[in-house]
Amino acid sequence: MKLFAMVVVLAVLFTGATLVSCGGSTEFKLGGVGPVTGEAATFGVSTKQGIEMAVAEWNAKGGVLGKQIKLYFADDKGDPAEGATVYTKLIQQDKVSAIVGTVMSKVTLAGAPIAQSSKVPMISPTSTNEKVTQVGDFIYRACFIDPFQGTVGAMFAFNDLKAKKAACIFDVGNDYTKGLSEAFKAKWEALGGQLVGYEAHATGTTDFKAQLTKIIQQKPDVLYVSDYYNDVALIAKQARELGYKGPLVGGDGWDSPELVKIGGAAVENGFFTNHYSPADIRPIVQDFVKKFKDKYNAEPDALAALAYDATYIMLNAVKTAGKADGSAIRDALAKTDLGVVSGQVKFDANRNPIKSAVIIEIKGGKQVYKTTVNP
Ligand code: PHE
Repeated sequence: MKLFAMVVVLAVLFTGATLVSCGGSTEFKLGGVGPVTGEAATFGVSTKQGIEMAVAEWNAKGGVLGKQIKLYFADDKGDPAEGATVYTKLIQQDKVSAIVGTVMSKVTLAGAPIAQSSKVPMISPTSTNEKVTQVGDFIYRACFIDPFQGTVGAMFAFNDLKAKKAACIFDVGNDYTKGLSEAFKAKWEALGGQLVGYEAHATGTTDFKAQLTKIIQQKPDVLYVSDYYNDVALIAKQARELGYKGPLVGGDGWDSPELVKIGGAAVENGFFTNHYSPADIRPIVQDFVKKFKDKYNAEPDALAALAYDATYIMLNAVKTAGKADGSAIRDALAKTDLGVVSGQVKFDANRNPIKSAVIIEIKGGKQVYKTTVNP
């Protein structure tokens, strides 16, 4: 009887001890967000792969804060309302301590205020619209911003393509494409270029002929298309059908294997600014490309690279903070000085890293690295 009582007491004590140790959570919860479905689904697929690969590498080395990292990944469908829903779910239900996401600026702008008011630090791998990090001090990004990207595009068109007359076409319902065209226009005019067309189209449209006809009548030397790849491919096809033979220039939103699949010959003589090139010979890049190919049997695009980088930046900050506390992680993020695939990352006062851009040419159905442009 006595022995039985002792066993019971021990069992209670043991269970209690186990419960206490579980109370502090045995894993570090990391949120991830990307558009795995919707208008730009390859963006989300690449992003998820990049985050998962980084998390697997950290876990193989013991995780962070002495715990394994558990990833809670959510699909925002490329939709701002859905983005707000999944940010709320990750924070309130899954109780993540930090978020890597999301991709499209218009969706990040819907999620960021939720992370900010909940004091959950987040880093967008790829949202380039200037307003994103202005949401608050918990909001970081791993990429350059559109004022820089538009400037690089305008200088390339003016100096390298020797264009004198440019026209822009953009999605008026998308912060990214609208902002990027504005940045291109500002630099283009500052350089003394002539702007012969500036045409908006609605989100979800597939017929761009009215805008393109108007633009092409003005005989531009270059067409700046700041859309995402699906729209770019259709715009290129329709512009070619209408007789436009000149170069097309655009931004990182072109980066998808789908661009040449849909656009075919129409996207040849196309150039876009991007964050990284898998052809970069730096060892950190080649090592990443090899590991990614081994794991996913595909070449990593910029979205995969930046998602991988953003995850490293965030986990490095968690490690530096020494605890899963939002404000401590935020403060550690501010002090980041880390070499990642897309470059050396240090944040300015607006939580934006200063990074170089690459220019990619579409040639023979492939993305060919042309040059690197420093800020
Ligand atoms: N920069 C885009 C945005 O802000 C997203 C993007 C980044 C798309 C990189 C493709 C490649 O909306």
